[in-house]
Amino acid sequence: MVKLAMLGSGFIGRFYADSIQGLRSKDRIVSIYSRREEQAKKFAEDYGCDHYTTDMEESIAHPDVDMVCISLPNNLHEAAVMLCIKHKKAVITTKPLGRNAAEAKRMLEAVEQAGIFNGYLEDLVYTPKFLKAYESVKNGALGRILWAKSRETHPGPHSDWFWDIEQAGGGCILDLGCHCVEITRSYIGKDIRPVEVMCWADTQVKPIDAEDNAIGLVKYENGAIGQFEVSWTFRGGLDLRDEVMGSEGTIWVNGFLRTGFDMFTTGKGADYVAEKAETNSGWLFPVGDELNELGYNHMFTEMFNCYERGTKPRETFYDGYLVNAVLDAAYKSVKSKIWEPVILDDWRGKTGVTKDSHLIEFDADHYLVKEEMTHYGTKKLILKEKATGKIVERIVE
Ligand SMILES: NC(=O)c1ccc[n+]([C@@H]2O[C@H](COP(=O)([O-])OP(=O)(O)OC[C@H]3O[C@@H](n4cnc5c(N)ncnc54)[C@H](O)[C@@H]3O)[C@@H](O)[C@H]2O)c1
Repeated sequence: MVKLAMLGSGFIGRFYADSIQGLRSKDRIVSIYSRREEQAKKFAEDYGCDHYTTDMEESIAHPDVDMVCISLPNNLHEAAVMLCIKHKKAVITTKPLGRNAAEAKRMLEAVEQAGIFNGYLEDLVYTPKFLKAYESVKNGALGRILWAKSRETHPGPHSDWFWDIEQAGGGCILDLGCHCVEITRSYIGKDIRPVEVMCWADTQVKPIDAEDNAIGLVKYENGAIGQFEVSWTFRGGLDLRDEVMGSEGTIWVNGFLRTGFDMFTTGKGADYVAEKAETNSGWLFPVGDELNELGYNHMFTEMFNCYERGTKPRETFYDGYLVNAVLDAAYKSVKSKIWEPVILDDWRGKTGVTKDSHLIEFDADHYLVKEEMTHYGTKKLILKEKATGKIVERIVE
């Protein structure tokens, strides 16, 4: 049994609490910190917490608390992490780890120096669909991964602080791009170094200082490309989609909209449909079990198992730091309009990786370009002569 302090009683704090204490779980939130007393009290009543407070340190230091779950606005993550270190409490933090890589690195170094358990709550690499797709990729079903794209777009966040660049640290690149970078990086290989980023961003719709739309490309040392598409102005709900292209296969994952559950209603009796749904009438795309489909259940199960076994979870503060470093490069590229290097002072994966060969051996004299069976019953081989570089076609009767 893990006994937690929850810091923050907002949107994600409640999603996390529903997951942590759902399905007859033995894990409990024993203390809740919220800056407003009535919110702390309400959360404590809803989730049966013994202790509530408006003093963050009191919640972290509470003697019953083993682990702290940070569900606060981005600008408060670092201070909360430092208090966890002061009181030697295990800590799990929502995304993004920091507002930038410098903040993330300070948190990473501090937890590692203190030797405390640290987990990065990137739920979208724990969704059942991701876990299955990832397993196939790992087993080689897609061959070499050439390109991995992740898209997260919705009509914009639900609280004031997200829209304030100082508190949030950025716009949709940071808020949503952090998910996409970790998803695509996982498909390409977390031991492969991200080297450069090219990113377009603009403020197309909202009266804010940060970007509300962006598209970015992340180049990896083995030649693979990660792509993210993010928006705070997309109309139609929460669009979560991944596409992976390999030399031997393809994966398309639709995470939230159009997942095979369509409903029509005139709106009578309709209420909550799914996160960021924009309407509750007409044709709708409800989500069967949001907690599970967004990965929260598998994420907390793995985090708590690792904590109890003394092992590292799939996602640690190191991953959070790496994601922040990639996104820092994206922000630089938006301004410079050129590829910007990913600055990683601490790289723990493979080094000296070279681009994989694109030459497929056919026979001693040829490389294979393509093989195709035509509709008129002829099999064609397209080959490249090694000696001359000439492309030739052979008909196989
Ligand atoms: N899928 C995900 O992983 C996911 C989804 C949404 C949000 N998040 C992250 O969770 C964190 C919180 O986001 P949210 O959506 O729950 O926001 P929210 O606004 O719904 O809740 C934030 C909580 O922090 C409290 N808070 C706000 N300002 C504060 C301040 N100045 N001092 C102390 N407490 C303050 C609020 O009262 C509330 O309890 C952010 O880092 C966000 O990026 C993650």
